[in-house]
Formats: sequence, C-alpha cells, structure tokens
Amino acid sequence: MIVVRDDATRARLGELIEPGFQRYAAQVQAGEAPWNTINASAVSDETVAATKLPRGFVDKLTGAPVVLLVFVDLSVVASFDSGLDRIGVISGGSIYPFAWNILLAARNEGLGGTLTTFVGAQEPVLQELLGVPSHYAFAAMIPMGKPVKQLTKLSRKPVSEFAVLERFDGAPLVD
Ligand SMILES: Cc1cc2nc3c(=O)[nH]c(=O)nc-3n(C[C@H](O)[C@H](O)[C@H](O)COP(=O)(O)O)c2cc1C
Repeated sequence: MIVVRDDATRARLGELIEPGFQRYAAQVQAGEAPWNTINASAVSDETVAATKLPRGFVDKLTGAPVVLLVFVDLSVVASFDSGLDRIGVISGGSIYPFAWNILLAARNEGLGGTLTTFVGAQEPVLQELLGVPSHYAFAAMIPMGKPVKQLTKLSRKPVSEFAVLERFDGAPLVD
C-alpha cells in the first residue's frame, strides 16, 4: 500500500482517473453496465472523449488528506481462474478483504474512505508514476479523511433478490 500525500502525484492521479471515469459515465448514460466484459459497448471513443464529468468530483477524490493506493503482488497470488476464458476475479479475492478492512478500521477511528478503481485502466502509467514493479497489479485507490458527514443508512438490495437455495434458479433464501 502506498500512502500518497504529494500534491504533484495527486494532480497526476486526477489526470489518470479521467479517461476511465469518462468511459464509465458515457456507458452509464447509454444505459450500459459500464466496463463489463460480457456485452460489447456501443459507445464510440468520440462520445467517450466528449463526455463531461461531474464538476469537482475527481478533485474531491484526489484532494482527500491521504490517498491510499493498494496493489497486489501477482507473483504470490493463487489465481485459480487464470486458465479460464474470461476476466479473472479470484486474484482480487486476495486483496479486497484487505482494502475493506482498511475502510472498517478507518471508520472505527472516525475516518472515512471510499473504494475506487477508476484509475485501473491506466495501470502501466500508475506503476511508472509510483515506481511499482509491473507484476504488482493495481487493486484500489482509497481517498481517506474525516467525513463531512458519517453515513449510517446505506441502500442495498434485499437479500431475497440475490440469495437462492441450492441452485442459481433456486427459491429465494428469504421471502
Ligand atoms: C471494487 C470497487 C470499486 C469501486 N470503484 C469505484 C470508482 O472507481 N469510482 C466510484 O465513484 N465508485 C467506485 N466504487 C463504489 C464506491 O466505492 C462505493 O461503494 C459507492 O459509492 C457506494 O458507497 P457505499 O458502499 O458507502 O454505499 C467502487 C466499489 C467497489 C466495491
């Protein structure tokens, strides 16, 4: 984990976030599930480049008191799905609990952070910027600071919508 405080590095992080965020926003505006690897996007590169981002959003992320950059060392992770013909997810299982624990521990100290991955598509540039070896994959950027307001009520789907018994098409776990 790299703790970034340097202003020049923050400014560069902001620049690196923008293209990924623009594609995300453009695909959301087109009604697509952004950055998914199953359904090809119908959004053109020109539309992506012309997509405006909410003003000040990126500055809020990079302007947090500290910006944590979390990487996973792929030379030690057991990526059990690496032979499958789809995007890997299992390697992430070795690092996101760590990122989540950082968030939980921070909350316990009255701090707040949020998981972001916008910068992920720029991984080679990010590695160069921070001197990270190429086999360390970017996992998360977590801006962290004292929250303006401590959130208590989160919006989540009810368990009945995603937990099923025995099989994918099984009955809901709860009604
Ligand atoms: C793996 C992961 C990556 C995420 N990446 C981003 C991101 O790049 N940008 C963003 O605005 N939100 C991102 N989010 C969503 C936010 O971190 C956060 O979950 C969302 O704002 C909802 O907040 P809540 O979990 O406190 O309800 C990501 C969430 C996860 C789990």
